[in-house]
Amino acid sequence: MLRFSSAADLKAAVGNARTSGREIVLVPTMGALHAGHLSLVELAKAGLPEVPASERKAPFVIVSVFVNPLQFGVGEDFERYPRTLEADAKLLEGAGVDVLFAPEVEEVYPNGQAGANHKTAGKAAEILEGHSRPGHFDGMLTVVARLFDLAEPDRAVFGAKDAQQLFLVRQMAAKDYPNLLVQAAPTVREASGLAMSSRNRFLSADDLRAATALNRTLRQACSELEAGAPADEVLEAHRRQLESDAPQDKLDYLQLVSANDFEPVSNDFHGSAILLVAANIGQTRLIDNLELLI
Ligand code: PAJ
Repeated sequence: MLRFSSAADLKAAVGNARTSGREIVLVPTMGALHAGHLSLVELAKAGLPEVPASERKAPFVIVSVFVNPLQFGVGEDFERYPRTLEADAKLLEGAGVDVLFAPEVEEVYPNGQAGANHKTAGKAAEILEGHSRPGHFDGMLTVVARLFDLAEPDRAVFGAKDAQQLFLVRQMAAKDYPNLLVQAAPTVREASGLAMSSRNRFLSADDLRAATALNRTLRQACSELEAGAPADEVLEAHRRQLESDAPQDKLDYLQLVSANDFEPVSNDFHGSAILLVAANIGQTRLIDNLELLI
């Protein structure tokens, strides 16, 4: 595995790989890697299932590890965010990754953070995570665009765990990177159903119980919705349940949106939808979601 912190070194390696006929695949992360991240690497290495194996180019897999200051708000956990680069490097090496790109802030934003080519995420970024974390998605898209410009990938892999992020990256890619394929990876969970997250390491035993209730709620609410129960009633009942089960934690939202445009939907909606939940459990913000057809 090659290991770079310099954008110029990354570009040179990508140039060589492209010349030798490889498909450039990027997996952006903030490190503190777990099995969820590694499942993205597996997809990156496997190539696209819809392309016949004989026609697939050999993937050249780049994993970036960069805790992006631009996507953290004031009072959020930028300082506290886990940084475990040596352990991450070992995992990536074992997973057969070609390049680990772990730049410093100055390398990603050579003109300073204020001087970066800022992206604005638009309307779908103002609700849910965007409502609770103003500026988060602008910062996220800014770094993703920067990584796309540096690595010039043919394909990039993102997790469905961060459904709103995935939607916004797809929207940006359709507009600004029309030749780039954005591939979605299913959410990897603990046996309890809890979605794996770099932040789970902060959870106490009590927190873990509350965190596990989030996914249980999603599953119950989804089966009620799929059975035809009215969305407003299902959401309200489960919000109340979560709040009474864990009054010390703060439920932020339990919301149903259309998978097509990420707009909140009402009772008469039919189609592919996403049920999303976010809560602050102890000091830790957790999110999860499930897709459903109603
Ligand atoms: P991070 O939280 O490190 O996640 C990196 C990628 O791993 C994202 O695409 C995320 O959706 C995916 N991922 C995280 N947990 C997962 C799980 N349990 N199952 C499947 N995929 C999972 O998301 C970010 O970093 C940043 O916002 C980033 C895109 C790197 C921009 O800074």
